Amino acid sequence: MAHYLVTGGCGFIGSHLADALLGDGHAVTILDDLSTGRLENKPARAELVVGDVADADAVRHAMDGVDGVFHLAAVASVQRSKELWAETHRTNVGGAVTVFEVARTIRDGASVPVIYASSAAVYGDNPNTPLGEDCVPQPRSAYGVDKLGCELHARVAWEIHNVPTVGFRFFNVYGPRQDPLSPYSGVISIFARRVARGEEVEIHGDGEQVRDFVYVGDVVRFLMASMRKRPQGAAVYNLCTGRPTSILMLLDVLQELCGKKARRLHRTARPGDIRVSIGDPAKARAAYGLTCRTGLLEGLGATVSWAVL
Ligand code: NAD
Ligand code: UD1
Repeated sequence: MAHYLVTGGCGFIGSHLADALLGDGHAVTILDDLSTGRLENKPARAELVVGDVADADAVRHAMDGVDGVFHLAAVASVQRSKELWAETHRTNVGGAVTVFEVARTIRDGASVPVIYASSAAVYGDNPNTPLGEDCVPQPRSAYGVDKLGCELHARVAWEIHNVPTVGFRFFNVYGPRQDPLSPYSGVISIFARRVARGEEVEIHGDGEQVRDFVYVGDVVRFLMASMRKRPQGAAVYNLCTGRPTSILMLLDVLQELCGKKARRLHRTARPGDIRVSIGDPAKARAAYGLTCRTGLLEGLGATVSWAVL
């Protein structure tokens, strides 16, 4: 049994990860400021430290005695990063650097390994899909720039300070517990609830923009496998399916699943929105022998069932 810190563990992905770690018999501490996370997401057996991931004292307190860190706390919305540029930067880069810094100093003699959330947003609008990890990053948002910054700091963490890290470039993650009520949440969570309730949905732009939607249960399997493998170095992997879905296709599938039609409100495209985002999953598959196996229909079914509860 090991003891892990999950930053952002009251959020969507972090709470699923915390559940799975506890299910495997590990002890879990969560550090979360509850800005978008919810207390009801916290597994009963996890210890919660309420605090800011960019505050070194809070991170030191939460990291005391742990064997590894999953760093997921961030402002996860690309849109939000446009509105709250400096504040997002402080959390998204400042938080990661603080975590790496404490990971190198908290234990005598050995650093604590850190698995962290990067993003497909580092690629920007690159039409050469599916995107492999060796594509030159060209982020178009403050959010994407900050996630790239985390990867660069992770390299420093390993090369200069001996902190082993693995960064996963999550593509568009979806599933139960992704907040359906916030306009800053993922499109699937917003659409699933609205279609199921017969409410209208907003399409930004023409709806032909494409995403690689990956189910949260698959993301958790990769995160756990990477910690089990004991990170060495500063690796970066895509976490994706390689399968494209447009926003209009997504809406069709959801309407089919719910047996309802939603009224469509057309809005202007978000400035800086990515047109096509599809990842190449080969490198992560080779490293961990895993695939993102949950099909869109299965994953949407689970999401809709949760959204109508
Ligand atoms: P989320 O908003 O549900 O979870 C983020 C958690 O971090 C929340 O619980 C929030 O309260 C906490 N948090 C935010 N700022 C904090 C701070 N300053 N100090 C402490 N805690 C703080 O989002 P999510 O979708 O679960 O995202 C988890 C991670 O995955 C993030 O790093 C995000 O950037 C990354 N990511 C998500 C997706 C996706 O599609 N959901 C895709 C790529 C990357
Ligand atoms: C998402 C993630 C981000 C991650 C990135 C990786 C969230 C909130 N954001 O950003 O953390 O790093 O994937 O690829 O999970 N849309 C609509 N109507 C809506 C909502 C959205 O048309 O009501 C459109 C958006 O304009 C966009 C697409 O759906 O074109 C996806 O938007 P969104 O779910 O916010 O995700 P990303 O911006 O891709």
